[in-house]
Amino acid sequence: MTVTAALPSPRWPEDALRLNAVCPYYTMFPLDFPLQQLAAHPETTRVLDPFCGRGTTLYAARLAELPSVGIDINPVAVAIAQAKLIRVTPGAVVRLARQILGGGMQGEVPEGEFWQWCYERETLRELVTLREALLGMTTPTAAMLRAILLGILHGPRNKNLPSYLSNQMPRTYASKPAYAVKFWKKHGMEPVRVPALEVIERRAKRLLDAAPLPHGGRVYLGDSVETLNSLRQRFDLVVTSPPYYGMRTYVADQWLRSWFLGGPADVPYGTQGQIARQPNQEAFIQALAEVWAATARRCRRGARLAIRFGALPSARTDPEKLLLTSLKEAKAGWIVKEVRQAGTPPKRTRQAEQFGKAGSAVDEIDVVAELIGLPR
Ligand SMILES: C[S@@+](CC[C@H](N)C(=O)[O-])C[C@H]1O[C@@H](n2cnc3c(N)ncnc32)[C@H](O)[C@@H]1O
Repeated sequence: MTVTAALPSPRWPEDALRLNAVCPYYTMFPLDFPLQQLAAHPETTRVLDPFCGRGTTLYAARLAELPSVGIDINPVAVAIAQAKLIRVTPGAVVRLARQILGGGMQGEVPEGEFWQWCYERETLRELVTLREALLGMTTPTAAMLRAILLGILHGPRNKNLPSYLSNQMPRTYASKPAYAVKFWKKHGMEPVRVPALEVIERRAKRLLDAAPLPHGGRVYLGDSVETLNSLRQRFDLVVTSPPYYGMRTYVADQWLRSWFLGGPADVPYGTQGQIARQPNQEAFIQALAEVWAATARRCRRGARLAIRFGALPSARTDPEKLLLTSLKEAKAGWIVKEVRQAGTPPKRTRQAEQFGKAGSAVDEIDVVAELIGLPR
């Protein structure tokens, strides 16, 4: 078994890594994983993540001064990942927010008990105005403001200066409305006024003051296979993590962030486009095999594919067997070089730790494969 080179973490000061934490994403992997892969493959010229989530791989590529491409089917993931490739000043973000809020109320305030309890009245009006204005904006500054707002939309209520706009809530996923209202009522937690501009200003300064230079790249919203088939670039390092088997709730768990991006003001339960929507394990293996085959078509000979994978405990499956079968089924020239438990990073940074509410996590594995043949 090959052991991946140790992470040269002292290369980056703590504050250069902050932008990576602009917004949590359910089942994100730790930055160490792509950084270790980049350190082990210094010959890399362009990086790909076909299931990019919040863009952790893309941020690692930026730190390593490399261009990268990310693909995800979830608009929330794409909105967060886009920020990882942008450099704007905190001042520009604050100016845009001030300009939008100074332009008067826009958009329709959603109705219902959840909204009355989740945000104080004036805070909600500000949020709705920002949402409405940003829906039509595509500039880098707007993309950064959007990602910052996704990151401050919900989270715990601090004792000191507020960091989040909502009433008490988890940061990683949005509680379901009926549950949240019951919780707030039971604990007598009325929403308090949180001025959006103040939180944006504090957060922008913290995240952007020491952000490293970007090195190019792009994030695509869409299905991995379809998007890969439309790309022209070639990659020599792929670092990715497909949805864990049994994990179908990416959109439902992020429903409040989905609303902010233009989605409905309630929980959408669909799994449209999600690869894990497959009815059974065989279909899931086939769907993954297609992704590895499409990835191979966009890679150079000798390219590395590093995959972190696991399964929900409720799925009762062997994630290692499932993943290795999918690579074999791809018939694309991927030769497995390394299989190991993803136990190297400290336990608390493991991706499966975030499955807390789904029960205790099964072991995660890291698999590294090399592209030896030319894909068909
Ligand atoms: C385990 S997460 C990736 C997390 C990522 N490594 C990070 O650090 O944030 C898997 C991602 O795959 C995305 N996904 C699921 N089906 C997809 C598909 N058919 N095409 C592209 N992305 C898909 C999900 O939306 C989810 O964001």
